[in-house]
Amino acid sequence: MSSQFAISVRDLEKDYGGVKALRELSLDIGAGQFFGLLGPNGAGKTTFINVLVGLVKRTGGDARVFGADVEEEYREVRGQVGVAPQEFNVDRFFPIKEVLMHNAGYHGVGRKEASERADEALKTVGIYEKRNTKFTYLSGGMKRRFVLARALVSEPDLLILDEPTAGVDVELRRDLWRIITELNDEGTTVLLTTHYIEEAEQLCDEVAIMDRGRKIAVASPAELTQRGTDTLRIRLADSPKKVPDIGDTELENGSIEALDLEGREIVVTAKRANAVAPELVRRLDRAGYRATSIDIEPASLEEVFVDLTGEDEGAESGGEPSQQFESPEVTT
Ligand SMILES: Nc1ncnc2c1ncn2[C@@H]1O[C@H](COP(=O)(O)OP(=O)(O)OP(=O)(O)O)[C@@H](O)[C@H]1O
Ligand SMILES: [Mg+2]
Repeated sequence: MSSQFAISVRDLEKDYGGVKALRELSLDIGAGQFFGLLGPNGAGKTTFINVLVGLVKRTGGDARVFGADVEEEYREVRGQVGVAPQEFNVDRFFPIKEVLMHNAGYHGVGRKEASERADEALKTVGIYEKRNTKFTYLSGGMKRRFVLARALVSEPDLLILDEPTAGVDVELRRDLWRIITELNDEGTTVLLTTHYIEEAEQLCDEVAIMDRGRKIAVASPAELTQRGTDTLRIRLADSPKKVPDIGDTELENGSIEALDLEGREIVVTAKRANAVAPELVRRLDRAGYRATSIDIEPASLEEVFVDLTGEDEGAESGGEPSQQFESPEVTT
């Protein structure tokens, strides 16, 4: 059965004996999308992926991949999905090319084609010269490359990458970005989890933010940053003695959250700063202050993320999920 959605889940629940890892999760990811899943440690990202690929049994709700139920039509799902997991789970006793051939074989590919696909996947990720090496003897970055090759060898329609760039150097990150962008351009749906907001902004056409098992927002990175608070810096011709009085903080196209004076600059925080800027300048003008330049620093996805989850995703935090915040319910 085909479906316009690569992934479609409704009211998905996963309860690990007391720990609710997924709660009422509903999400649709269109075929061909490059979709990002963001959230602090313990948000449920890996659990969600594991439910999709049959490694974890859901405790409630519905989960489909290209229209097929992830449990009842497990084989069909498995045939269409390639996963590069967060934790390495690789056979360490065989040369990596053999591991790939075995993987392709598992997907019903004959030996000759499996060999060709293995070579191709190793070339794609740039470790072809290591084909006769065992996984254990690869460097950390090569291991990351290898798990991507393993996800690719079945030529999946849906590629799932669980923190593919965690702890890799800048060069490898750029390399992985290029490889997966090309695959997406060729039609492969990509689901990526990441703690790097920059990565989500660069790559994803839509992102979901999760927190403690719940989906708290779904939007394009650009839409999400629009919800954040921008900073406007207005430089004045003359240095005012006090904070200019511009009247009330409600403007035609939005409201001002704060207005301060820093030397000759007025620093204003507002949502959708570019929409309020013209009226702000007019009001300043009326009050006798002439603006000479305006600089707008848009909110970053990272700031929005922090607002929504109460977590600083930029800092690489460790282990435990946060329990101290009530997550805001943002629906889109
Ligand atoms: N096998 C398991 N048994 C019990 N609890 C589990 C198991 N796997 C995950 N959990 C719990 O489920 C919650 C979600 O974990 P999960 O690994 O899905 O989070 P994550 O979003 O992938 O986090 P990270 O960013 O750290 O990878 C956590 O509270 C975790 O402790
Ligand atoms: Mg995880």
